[in-house]
Amino acid sequence: MKNTIETLSNEKRIISASDEFKANATHSDPEIYKLAAADRLGFWEAQASQLHWFSPWTSVLEWERPFAKWFVGGTINASYNCLDVHLDTDRRDKAAVVWEGELGDVRTFTYAELHHEVARFSTVLTTRYGIQKGDRVTIYMPLIPESVVAILACARIGAIHSVVFGGFSAQSLIDRIHDSGSRLVITADGGYRRGKVVPLKSIVDEAMEKCPAIEAVVVVRHVRNEIKMQPGRDDEYQSVMADTTDLQEAVPMDSEDPLFILYTSGTTGKPKGIVHTTGGYMAHAKYSAQLVFDLKPSDVYWCTADVGWITGHTYLVYGPLANGATVMMYEGSPDYPDKDRFWEVIERHKVTILYTAPTAIRAFMKWGNHLPEKHDLSSLRLLGSVGEPINPEAWMWYYTVIGKGRCPVVDTWWQTETGGIMISTLPALSPMRPGYTGLPLPGIDVQVLHESGKPVEIGGGLLSIMSPWPSMARGIWGDNDRFKSVYWDTFDTYFAGDGATVDDDGYIMVLGRVDDVLNVAGHRIGTMEVESALVEFDGVAEAAVVGIADELKGQAILAFVILKEGVTPSDEFERAAIDWVSKAIGAIAKPKRIIFTPDLPKTRSGKIMRRLLKSVANGQPLGDVTTLANPEVVGFLEQQLSIKVDLSYPPTN
Ligand code: WT7
Repeated sequence: MKNTIETLSNEKRIISASDEFKANATHSDPEIYKLAAADRLGFWEAQASQLHWFSPWTSVLEWERPFAKWFVGGTINASYNCLDVHLDTDRRDKAAVVWEGELGDVRTFTYAELHHEVARFSTVLTTRYGIQKGDRVTIYMPLIPESVVAILACARIGAIHSVVFGGFSAQSLIDRIHDSGSRLVITADGGYRRGKVVPLKSIVDEAMEKCPAIEAVVVVRHVRNEIKMQPGRDDEYQSVMADTTDLQEAVPMDSEDPLFILYTSGTTGKPKGIVHTTGGYMAHAKYSAQLVFDLKPSDVYWCTADVGWITGHTYLVYGPLANGATVMMYEGSPDYPDKDRFWEVIERHKVTILYTAPTAIRAFMKWGNHLPEKHDLSSLRLLGSVGEPINPEAWMWYYTVIGKGRCPVVDTWWQTETGGIMISTLPALSPMRPGYTGLPLPGIDVQVLHESGKPVEIGGGLLSIMSPWPSMARGIWGDNDRFKSVYWDTFDTYFAGDGATVDDDGYIMVLGRVDDVLNVAGHRIGTMEVESALVEFDGVAEAAVVGIADELKGQAILAFVILKEGVTPSDEFERAAIDWVSKAIGAIAKPKRIIFTPDLPKTRSGKIMRRLLKSVANGQPLGDVTTLANPEVVGFLEQQLSIKVDLSYPPTN
């Protein structure tokens, strides 16, 4: 049965899920919005009650702005809620994880098997390495089942995991290990990306030279490349597991015990270690996955994010496993060996729910309809999008070509700091509108605010979350002053850093970041991080980085660089400086191009006018330039930009 499309005007297209979808959906009673609004805390208690607790909470919320405590006094274990809760049910022997490697090999873990693996690895962590509750463990892995095992094994014993995306450089890994004070690293020999091996272990080796506090490195043998193992420090996962049969029980954690730290970029050069705790995070993870994706144990659910991002934490591991679904995991790249790999995976494993990013959708669109059309995608029943605004054109393509007009599309807005989805349409409850993310989830209190802090009734402003919610960040690891100043100084309420509009029906359209944070292919990158990396490159005197519109990635990075006296600009220098950034941070932070300039637009007090650079870079009107001390530089930059018309050189990805 088809969904219904009501076209009110070009801008306003309203799409509702089919009656069949609604009839089968777990949440189809619109009362849920009213219920949640009438008694928000009671509503959240009901959601938390869906989890297993060793002992109940004594108070729902203790709020001392900006620090929240949820389900205070309750004890719970996240790993238990993802694994043990299923063991006495018919989910015991169904697949928890179906993994497909880039080479095409498939591995499946039932809930019983995953439990067994996790419980044994927890035993290894405690008995062999003496890891205890509160210790930090860094996980630097490819997207293989053992990354899920490592995460859940930490959670099982209350070790705080800090997952570092496998695309980050040795230096980024070092920074995160130091900041978190980790004792142990879990990694793999390597991972596959476009048929090539990413040598993770040798990157770890490089990092270890600067990380004397790391006592041990556990290495999953995956690609079986040649690696160096340092005796006394490095162990093979497979061999330490072979020695272990004991199953570690899940340890009761306080609801407010930290579950993980996840680093994300901000407006300074130093990433922020966002801290999430256990009870509230799990309550929202389970609830939101069920509500937004209509996730059921019968689903084969595929979130294409890497475990290194918050999407991987909440909607690849904790949310779907707490709901007893089958999680599809694919290791590699969407264009390997061919550009129809995703559709092949969906067809082969009968994926029912696909959750991916607009940047991927735009690439698929460009690659052509014939690729998805070669495959049977009829198992799909719901599609999701996350990470950046999805333009209506890409939305409609996703909806018609992949979903065949049958599958509801949910565009989900949230952040590392929010822990879970905050705004989305709900497949059986609120109709879809391409370009709009939709309404705040029941229990979530969002408004668009004027700069003054007054709510905007209809129109544009800044997105703010008005009341505490269970999965909110509890702070920045080791820097709660920064937590206060970054998120809580603009308004009395939480400020997310995004601009948005709100319509007469309360629908929210997220416009993107309003701070010096870029969103490149759905990845958050601080301009300052890239600038700091650039000025460390020999020959660079000063650097300023802005985002430019990019057809595929949403935004790409453009750098303006002043060279030191005596250094001549050249293509070679540009290429070398770009490679340097990649080496310093990771390939995701590579500038697309560098514009060399003798000067940067500055105010009379010497501050770089980044706003102006952004306008110049994007060919937009310059706006107010009265405070500009050196107006002649603008013409020069415009000319340089027009010479480098093909901003795509050198090819980066
Ligand atoms: C930033 C958060 C949350 C998972 C992935 C990114 C942007 C995220 C949307 C969306 C428009 C979105 C925002 C936000 N963003 N989802 N559906 N529509 N923008 O997590 O790295 O913490 O980045 O991503 O700008 O602030 P993150």
